[in-house]
Amino acid sequence: MKIVVTIAALLVSSGGSLALANQACPPVSVNASTNIWKNYVLNPNPFYRDHVLAAAEVIKDPTLKKQALKIADMGTFFWLDDNMALSKLRAVTDDVPCQNIVGIVLQGLTSGNCTLPSFRPVEFDTYQKAYVDPLASILRAKPTTVFAIIVEPDTLPAIIMNSTLSSCSGLASTYYRKNVAYALMALNLPNVVMYLDAGHGGTLGWELNLKPAAAELAAVYTAAGSPSQVRGIAVNIGGWNSWDASPGEFATTYESPRNYAQNERDFVKRLGNLLSKTGTPNHAIADTSRNGVYGLRREWTDWCNVNGAGFGRRPTADGTGLELADALVWAKGGGISDGTSNPASANYNPYCGKQDSFKPSPEKGEWNQAYFEMLLENAHPPIAVD
Ligand SMILES: *[C@@H]1O[C@H](CO)[C@@H](O)[C@H](O)[C@H]1NC(C)=O
Ligand SMILES: *[C@@H]1O[C@H](CO)[C@@H](O)[C@H](O)[C@H]1NC(C)=O
Ligand SMILES: *[C@@H]1O[C@H](CO)[C@@H](O)[C@H](O)[C@H]1NC(C)=O
Repeated sequence: MKIVVTIAALLVSSGGSLALANQACPPVSVNASTNIWKNYVLNPNPFYRDHVLAAAEVIKDPTLKKQALKIADMGTFFWLDDNMALSKLRAVTDDVPCQNIVGIVLQGLTSGNCTLPSFRPVEFDTYQKAYVDPLASILRAKPTTVFAIIVEPDTLPAIIMNSTLSSCSGLASTYYRKNVAYALMALNLPNVVMYLDAGHGGTLGWELNLKPAAAELAAVYTAAGSPSQVRGIAVNIGGWNSWDASPGEFATTYESPRNYAQNERDFVKRLGNLLSKTGTPNHAIADTSRNGVYGLRREWTDWCNVNGAGFGRRPTADGTGLELADALVWAKGGGISDGTSNPASANYNPYCGKQDSFKPSPEKGEWNQAYFEMLLENAHPPIAVD
């Protein structure tokens, strides 16, 4: 009994000191007309850090082990991709240094693929009550911490690219506009900056897709009442496309003349120009967590555990070489599986069994040690250790 009391007292006192540490930061009000990444760095996501520390522990090679330990300190985004993840968000937002940003990927809409007969959009009520409102109250309870939110990866490309299917153009876009507009309104708080997901150059960079994509982004932004804390777009989230490879991974394919955006840098410029014409915020962040090696995919849209991948450019707000690009960030925690390669699994997606996917890969969200070690070995630029 005595021991239990002591442990409880310890927990209370450590909770108390964490709260104090956070209260030591002044309340923040970020100006989304400026590049906040110049003044703040992405906070390491504690769940990813734990994965990486455990991974480093079992690596024998001394150099590789040191490289792994460097990755443990990297800032990565936390993925709010099912409502169970909300309970973890407390750990992610506790004890954040004043100069750090907490990154959150809000992915509550895409529980399906609108091209498939099984597709059911997430109802507005569910989205509001299970994702957006609880997230908004967590953000409101932490007025001294800055948050960067990436809003709904994967949804816009599916709508635009399959707009000839009524299940995509009708339901999905109605739900996209309604749900995402609500998220933009509810999360429009002084300590938050938002980036709307815009796919990547390989999905929305095509001649036929750029304008509709810009129009859809403008429509959802306007429907939300042009919220002040929207800064622009997020590209290549969880993706593989190169930031600035020229002429680009698919430049020699027969259809390449119809894709104006062979790399993410060009994509940000082209989509950014279209957005500015509609008065939609057009600054961008780009994910470079796993795109260090290119030329690995057979198709632009191959997205699952690409084999041969390496960690990409380290996060930077100074080295993007493009005024429209606020920062290169690590949105995805490299080593966390995109999906299982086992065809017998109920969650199997054929994309994860493709020729260019790494096998074996565990279920989505699970750790893949071999994949992580591959990312370390193939990192470009290499991970410097002393
Ligand atoms: C936000 O930054 C812009 C651009 O630097 C500036 O014009 C504007 O006055 C700032 N707004 C506030 C409220 O400080
Ligand atoms: C959705 O399914 C279609 C048809 O199987 C496929 O072509 C498309 O790539 C899928 N989209 C995603 C994001 O998995
Ligand atoms: C959806 O769009 C993708 C990309 O254009 C295409 O590969 C796929 O075949 C489409 N799916 C259907 C079911 O039309």
